[in-house]
Amino acid sequence: MVPMKRAWMILAAAVSPALAGPLLQNALNRHSISLNGEWHAIVDSRDGGLSRRYYRNADPFTEPGVVEYDFATAPVLRVPGDWNSQWPELLLYEGTVWYQRTFSYHLETGHHAFFHVGAANYRAQVWMNGEALCEHEGGFTPFDCDATSLLKDGENVVVVSVNNARHADDIPARDFDWWNYGGLTRDVSLMDVRAAYIENYSLQLERGSATRISGWIKINGAGPQVVTVRIPDLQVTQTAMTDSSGMARLAFDSAGLERWSPERPRLYAVEIASGGDRVTDEIGFRTIEARGTEILLNGRPVFLRGISLHEEAPNRSGRAHGDDDARILFGWAKELGCNFVRLAHYPHDEHAIRLADRLGLLLWSEIPLWQAIDFGNAAVVEKARQQLNEMIERDRNRAAVIFWSLTNESRATPERNAAVHQLAATARSLDSTRLITAATNQISRPDPHTMLLDDPIIADLDVFGVNEYIGWYQGLPADLDTMTWRNPFNKPMVVSEFGGDAKQGFHGEADQRWTEEYQENIYNHQIAAIRKLPFARGLSPWILKDFRSPVRQLSGIQDGYNRKGLVSDTGERKKAFFVLQKYYQELAAGTEAASGR
Ligand code: GCU
Repeated sequence: MVPMKRAWMILAAAVSPALAGPLLQNALNRHSISLNGEWHAIVDSRDGGLSRRYYRNADPFTEPGVVEYDFATAPVLRVPGDWNSQWPELLLYEGTVWYQRTFSYHLETGHHAFFHVGAANYRAQVWMNGEALCEHEGGFTPFDCDATSLLKDGENVVVVSVNNARHADDIPARDFDWWNYGGLTRDVSLMDVRAAYIENYSLQLERGSATRISGWIKINGAGPQVVTVRIPDLQVTQTAMTDSSGMARLAFDSAGLERWSPERPRLYAVEIASGGDRVTDEIGFRTIEARGTEILLNGRPVFLRGISLHEEAPNRSGRAHGDDDARILFGWAKELGCNFVRLAHYPHDEHAIRLADRLGLLLWSEIPLWQAIDFGNAAVVEKARQQLNEMIERDRNRAAVIFWSLTNESRATPERNAAVHQLAATARSLDSTRLITAATNQISRPDPHTMLLDDPIIADLDVFGVNEYIGWYQGLPADLDTMTWRNPFNKPMVVSEFGGDAKQGFHGEADQRWTEEYQENIYNHQIAAIRKLPFARGLSPWILKDFRSPVRQLSGIQDGYNRKGLVSDTGERKKAFFVLQKYYQELAAGTEAASGR
């Protein structure tokens, strides 16, 4: 019996979908029509839809043969949005759902039309007017497919199958501590671009400079082109010619530039034009570097007052998406006094990244190489490279993003170390302006009072994150008071996770597990320990908000939620929230009370 996934892929090949690509930068600001809204949906738990050719969108009342489906009368799912939180019977569903909608379109002569999906978890295949268009694997990064040749002038039908089944050779693999929300979870649109179009671009402040901006613009589909970049507020107008590969490079000084920072998140309107195509963006210019055990933002040491965050909607169940969800979640982070958020464990919605640009929140962005990944499988490492590439290509112009993170708590096997070494080189080749990091728990404990931060991949990182749960998974909170932390690589460290579960409203003694007081006790000892560490340059405790997880089944306490949040799943703050807030307020005020920092 051929496993279902393989059958799906074999049959899929029969309808010859192409891989998605290229990825167009700044989809949200392109000339486009939104395809968000209600899509008809058919649950296909046996994966029969492919062989029954659902993608033909046939009419069962007029067409002969096996046409035992009808999108026109099928129920609807809202896009963007996971299916788990829209249909109660799909809360735990892992399989295929077919989406269909119609739309009218007029394609101007010489233009291209790209079908854009902000994210589809986990595998997607797209048919346009019954013809195979493209497919994509990866649940948290966008993809674009050139639909020009398949579009009709007038009424069109698009069908997308999305499958969120888990497999050992996927990324993430079969086991992960968050809800497997499936579906078209982010925006869907049709982007209109000229025959010669602006595919991607990078404009960054050069390290060591306060005014020199350099970068490139990639034009697709034409011979030599003049590219113009305008930054009106800086009185900058620059032109450059593309080379034979369509790449135009430029570097210029920008007197009077106000560098982006959390305190003053200055964004500049940027206009890029070439051959009739035109893209506008808002870009913040700053530098981020590591020097010794310091992290330097715009050349000055910065301490990261952070919190970790899953992309789970506040005040409702489901995958968060769009500005509104991000505004509430980042509002809670700002209320804590954060200047930093670790976006766990996968790239978040582009709306959130752009909001962080506007709010002045520094971001850690990561690909979901979470714990048990099949690093010995070259195809898996290639998937990791693809997702890393898509994350960087999408967010390379977002000032808020300072870290690309490569893995979370993966075991320190030779295959994993080699893969991370490769991925670090890939990340730096794609983007030399940001810092490369990873969150590790692969540290040695030569004795109960020592943490030796010796994971071999730290050699490949600019900054390393340590996930440690002293006081929850290991020992007691007071063990931190006598802990020695050794940093043989002499690099900046972020304590990327610590914490403990607490059921909001469950109170008791400070040594009573699962109470708010116990979680508060952990935070008090963890913060006291971090204050004493000269190479700790930040922290992002686990986690802002309780989140759904199928492995958290302690009834009456967890009930399917990981309860390490400082805010409950219904928005109530726990006592530890105020412990962290007090620490961050002291740091922000720079008072002596912050002592070690
Ligand atoms: C790990 C992991 C998280 C997980 C957390 C926990 O460190 O990185 O994804 O949710 O611990 O156990 O709560």
